[in-house]
Amino acid sequence: MQYDLIIRHAQLHRHDGLVDIATKDGHFASIVGELPSDSSATREIDAAGRLVVPPFIDAHVHLDAVLTVGRPRYNTTGTLLEGIQIWSELKPGLSREDVKKRALEEIRWEVAQGTLHIRSHVDVCDPNLTALRALLEVREEVRDICNLQLVAFPQDGILSFPNGRELMRQAMELGCDVVGGIPHYEWTRDMGVEDVHYAFALAREFNRDIDCHCDETDDPISRFTEVMAADTIQQGWQGRVTASHCTAMHSYDNAYAFKLIRLLARAQVNVVANPFDNVVLQGRFDTYPKRRGITRVKELLVAGVNVALGHDSIMDPWFPLGKGDMLAAAQLALFLCHMSGYDEINAVLDLITTNAARTLRVQDSYGIEEGKPADFLVLDAPSAFEALRLVPARLHVFKSGREVAYTTPGKSVIKRQTDQEGEEVTFRLKP
Ligand code: FE2
Repeated sequence: MQYDLIIRHAQLHRHDGLVDIATKDGHFASIVGELPSDSSATREIDAAGRLVVPPFIDAHVHLDAVLTVGRPRYNTTGTLLEGIQIWSELKPGLSREDVKKRALEEIRWEVAQGTLHIRSHVDVCDPNLTALRALLEVREEVRDICNLQLVAFPQDGILSFPNGRELMRQAMELGCDVVGGIPHYEWTRDMGVEDVHYAFALAREFNRDIDCHCDETDDPISRFTEVMAADTIQQGWQGRVTASHCTAMHSYDNAYAFKLIRLLARAQVNVVANPFDNVVLQGRFDTYPKRRGITRVKELLVAGVNVALGHDSIMDPWFPLGKGDMLAAAQLALFLCHMSGYDEINAVLDLITTNAARTLRVQDSYGIEEGKPADFLVLDAPSAFEALRLVPARLHVFKSGREVAYTTPGKSVIKRQTDQEGEEVTFRLKP
């Protein structure tokens, strides 16, 4: 049998034994222990026992703000509120060209590190919707390397910003994929509840999914995630709704968190945590002990809630560092959420792969299965455990059977006084 591509001796996640993977016409054609001896392909790669996984997914990022760090000034306190202030100073001067240039560059960073699906929130609290118009063009321009979803995101509020409702509607008319919201940031509790109701009304009108920034605060009485869950059940939107951040859940008393988590599971609401921003931005009013701020990822998973991760910020007013690496985000989540048990480490890989695919609702065309599009990565590690320990190179990144990125890993060598040639350090246990 003649194929386009064969990956030999691949290790799949949660699978015993190695497999050969063959692709044809952009799809997985055969995944078996060993392909018949008459199988050949235009290109063959020997994975040599390395892990082959579906592409990583960044379920939450802000492509309009990425790579703006220092413009017009650096965040001196490091707080969320100063970040929003700096962003409001920068926003009126944004041009379509500037937004496009930065977003395209950041997408290149993510694709090079194996992320082929990105959900970006776009600030629509701008009478001209400049960033949105730019990112709608970017969404089309990157289709060969990345699937980009855009969320209409009201950074300054739907009710607390002039014409907020109308701007959200315009954003959906222009072609946003998902309706956003920001209930905890509205001026009052009542306005926050209305923020959520309005997101659901728009979602029904345009038949779209919902992804609201929700309860992104340490305030334990910020309780809008429950409103999202209740609306989901009442509107029949199960599986189509995502609550992002939910950091207040970190600080709820356990009795209320228990009730809320059960409600989220019942409503099939997805939760997205953003480990970089959450740990850096939350806990800022604390002396000691300082809260980590991230939502209860471990407990949500145990209760059957679908949890995924986002990078959120990359070199912007809220988080000055980062390089768009979702595997690094997953490693940080592992630390922050105490998910270092063996099975938990395996589950952490799901947060940036299969769970995130459910959040973006791309699961029908996602995964290493015969008949599905041949989207996958070859990691320079033999297992999820090793991938999360090493954060290794993404050696090959394939989309629809075409290589869209590759990385040549670095090499470290120790030179002893008696051995000037030196010996390589692999950072692996020696047998
Ligand atoms: Fe965000």
